[in-house]
Amino acid sequence: MTNGKSIRKVRKAVFPVAGLGTRFLPATKAIPKELLPILDRPVLQWAVEEAREAGIEEFIFVTARGKEAIADHFDAFPALEETLAAKGKDALLQVVRQATIEAGKAIYVRQDAPRGLGHAVACAREAVGNEPFALLLPDMLMFDEPGCMAGMMAHYEEVGGNIIAVEEVPREEVHRYGVVALDPDARDVMRITGMVEKPSVDEAPSTLIISGRYILQPEIFAHLDETAPGAGGEIQITDAMQRGIEAGEPYFAWHYTGQTWDCGSKLGFLLANVAFGLRDKETADALRAYVNTHCRDES
Ligand code: UTP
Repeated sequence: MTNGKSIRKVRKAVFPVAGLGTRFLPATKAIPKELLPILDRPVLQWAVEEAREAGIEEFIFVTARGKEAIADHFDAFPALEETLAAKGKDALLQVVRQATIEAGKAIYVRQDAPRGLGHAVACAREAVGNEPFALLLPDMLMFDEPGCMAGMMAHYEEVGGNIIAVEEVPREEVHRYGVVALDPDARDVMRITGMVEKPSVDEAPSTLIISGRYILQPEIFAHLDETAPGAGGEIQITDAMQRGIEAGEPYFAWHYTGQTWDCGSKLGFLLANVAFGLRDKETADALRAYVNTHCRDES
């Protein structure tokens, strides 16, 4: 309980995966960018596993034309499982099962055109219904133990409301992100008093950026209805959340201190692969040797 109101459990997570992925053309002509692998699993699967660890029971994907392989990826594959079992490949069998979402627990809704993240979230309205939900941007690969969403969920169970994961970045980078302002009188609970999408360095209210994980109350859908296209001509979730703040709804920041890679950019994608390659016992030693030999700064 908080403020006399009961805190409703978060059972569902939304994954917007309907973007065009133009920064990865031509790879993304036929393959959804969310299925490009980081080490051995699609970037999207890392986010699904993070949500599952946080207790999420239903997985809602906002997809588009050409993204059908996403549903296939999370589908059960009995023939493959039988073959692996018959060959005694138990470890691989486990890996395949981990990539499967239980029957009836994955929902796919369509976005008609890539009109922005806010519009993608609005497309999940019927599937979410009148309850709080988690929102994970799969491009942002976040690694921590426990995961970012699990930490947010524990915080949510204490304070309720809307929770936004934030990360500190150097001031010169704020223009690439949504940036939050915190209430100086409520720093202990990190109450958010405002947010702005892609501000200039001078206008940014802080150096705390919105990093791609949210717990939102269903009131966000009414605010999305009222939100006109903003930065980049797209309907921005940040603008809809700002409307919620102005309406007096509680928004709290959750300070995430684990690692994040923006896998929607080529550099972030490469760095994530190196980082996970260095973590994996099958590849770590050879990769480290390669990096030590070939990646020395000769200047
Ligand atoms: P991005 O803006 O990074 O993805 O959205 P993009 O537009 O596909 O990438 P580029 O810039 O063309 O390379 C972040 C997440 O939101 C989804 C994307 O699929 C991605 O997972 N998204 C974005 C939607 O689902 N719908 C949209 O209209 C926009």
